[in-house]
Amino acid sequence: MTVSAATTAPTPTFEAHPIRGRFNSVFFRLMEPYLEWNLRRHKQRAFGQMPGRVVELGAGVGANLRHLPDGATLVAVEPNPHMHRRLEAAAERRGVHLELCDRVAEDTGLADHSVDTAISSLVLCTVADPAQVLAEVRRILRPGGTYRFVEHVAAPARTPTRAVQRILRRPWAWTFEGCSCERDLESVIRSAGFSAVSIESYRLRTPFIPFNTHIAGTARS
Ligand SMILES: C[S@@+](CC[C@H](N)C(=O)[O-])C[C@H]1O[C@@H](n2cnc3c(N)ncnc32)[C@H](O)[C@@H]1O
Repeated sequence: MTVSAATTAPTPTFEAHPIRGRFNSVFFRLMEPYLEWNLRRHKQRAFGQMPGRVVELGAGVGANLRHLPDGATLVAVEPNPHMHRRLEAAAERRGVHLELCDRVAEDTGLADHSVDTAISSLVLCTVADPAQVLAEVRRILRPGGTYRFVEHVAAPARTPTRAVQRILRRPWAWTFEGCSCERDLESVIRSAGFSAVSIESYRLRTPFIPFNTHIAGTARS
């Protein structure tokens, strides 16, 4: 059954740039081993023991397929068509049954309270309105269902990392199709109306300084 988003805000659209859309597909494919090396233990905690059917927002080229249980089904909400071919190939390689959903996370088209587990990594930084995405997550999760996330966030105010995030915000957003390193996503998640939220904050050791500050955790519907 297809339903509309829970909020009254207009649904954002996603237009993949013909060059940067392709660039991001290749970039995230090439960077996958490096990102996995950096994020593995945080993803293992957040994405551990998932059920056999998972909805992923902004699945990209399939970085999180390895964290699904054997034989799982992934409902991948991914609006950038340049990601699709690599995502399909990765799902086939890993034996994951893929249901590709060419829509935005703000309006997944999934039925109310039909989902046990929704996940995202490095996506709330890029969507037009993270609060609207979380309202959609709450709409599709069944009572007791969980949203699990690994996301990069703004560094604390008046720190050198925060200053770098500020200086690089425009070229960063241009390159990564709207990505912002300046979002306080912990506050957005905590105020989204989930019944229980657990979040860990951590820093990565990476030369991509604007990307150093992260959160991971779970939010229960
Ligand atoms: C930085 S990439 C991360 C991809 C993948 N999750 C990973 O960890 O490698 C951000 C992804 O979010 C997708 N995206 C952007 N806006 C979106 C939206 N409104 N709804 C769903 N996905 C979106 C992009 O197409 C891209 O695949």
